[in-house]
Amino acid sequence: GTPADHQAEDAAITNGVAESNHLGYTGSGFVNYDNATGSAVEFTVNAAAAGPANVVLRFANGTTTNRPMDISVNGTKVASGVAFGGTGNWDTWQTVTVPVTLTAGTNKIKATATTANGGPNVDKITV
Ligand code: GCU
Ligand code: CA
Ligand code: CA
Repeated sequence: GTPADHQAEDAAITNGVAESNHLGYTGSGFVNYDNATGSAVEFTVNAAAAGPANVVLRFANGTTTNRPMDISVNGTKVASGVAFGGTGNWDTWQTVTVPVTLTAGTNKIKATATTANGGPNVDKITV
């Protein structure tokens, strides 16, 4: 179907904080992942039908160090160590697209930091 936005600040946050102290986010803010392995955001996404979809994740990383994350769908890791590189500063946002397969109905899409630096700041996913 038509892609819809799912705001990180409205999703289920594990070891992170919803903030709005940088520019350029959508919705009401973004999630500042704790700078720790395992910090995560889990989005609930409804799909009208089963099948392939693109998860477009909008993020900022004001450092020059990659902040990789694993992407899981309904508890199954579907992409390991997806790179979220530096975007220049914390006000500059880029997207990374991860192809996934959704089931009909409710899907849980989770982005989990895999290094001690934690994840990037995450604004939203569009699915
Ligand atoms: C800064 C920035 C945060 C970011 C953090 C980090 O503190 O203001 O938004 O999350 O760096 O390095 O993760
Ligand atoms: Ca952080
Ligand atoms: Ca947002």
